[in-house]
Amino acid sequence: MALIQVRNLVKEFAGQSVLSNVSLDLQEGEVKVLMGSSGSGKSTLLRCLNRLVEPTSGSIQFKGAEITGAHVNVRELRKQIGFVFQQFALYSHLTVLENVTLGLRKLQGLGLSQANEKALFELSKFEMTAHQSKYPSQLSGGQKQRVAIARALAMDPAVLVLDEPTSALDPVMSRDVADLINGLHVNGITMICVTHDLSLAKNISDRVLFLDKGVIRADERIDVLSGNQVDADIQAFFGERAAN
Ligand SMILES: Nc1ncnc2c1ncn2[C@@H]1O[C@H](COP(=O)(O)OP(=O)(O)OP(=O)(O)O)[C@@H](O)[C@H]1O
Ligand SMILES: [Mg+2]
Repeated sequence: MALIQVRNLVKEFAGQSVLSNVSLDLQEGEVKVLMGSSGSGKSTLLRCLNRLVEPTSGSIQFKGAEITGAHVNVRELRKQIGFVFQQFALYSHLTVLENVTLGLRKLQGLGLSQANEKALFELSKFEMTAHQSKYPSQLSGGQKQRVAIARALAMDPAVLVLDEPTSALDPVMSRDVADLINGLHVNGITMICVTHDLSLAKNISDRVLFLDKGVIRADERIDVLSGNQVDADIQAFFGERAAN
């Protein structure tokens, strides 16, 4: 059974279709990369997975249980789905350590010393221990993303969902965070990742889902996709990326 099974997912905003009958499976230990032009619905799809966006229709099963609908315990669901955003989404009034312990304390109910211990363990994996007392404004973009990833992983999520984790970073930091995500992949963390970064996509996943105006147009090996000579939209998308 797939960890996440999406079937015929539809999302409309004010009558405008943003996702049209999207179906996908994410197996445990698998990494799926989602690519597509701006506005194609990538973030909306990710946000449906943890109920930040309510689908118009269709089904999403997580560990075999339906997670759309009013009866679902959204808090329990979010404990198991770690999210990492392009803009880091750290709390600016909290230190690095407090950013990581917040969910452990509020969602997992850990006491302060246990939460600190767990958070420091995660921060040490990303070489951020020395920065534990800093505020987000005192960190570089790459460091902020390390904290955001440590914060997500501290919750021991079943899956890590990453929405353009490197696109707010300069090329050097972007490589650094990409290497780190590649390390998570090597360690068998289940992930679904939206990225425009071809080399990150190539490193972490064999196959890429290509979303075009809310429709999955391809589920293909990235070298096949980027060499596509048949589909003009896919060709244009990857042509642009290669030129960057
Ligand atoms: N809350 C919302 N209300 C209305 N329209 C929305 C909302 N969120 C997204 N949309 C629209 O849905 C479409 C898809 O947006 P989405 O953010 O999913 O695209 P994306 O593929 O992630 O784009 P990008 O690469 O720029 O991040 C866009 O046309 C966007 O304007
Ligand atoms: Mg987006």
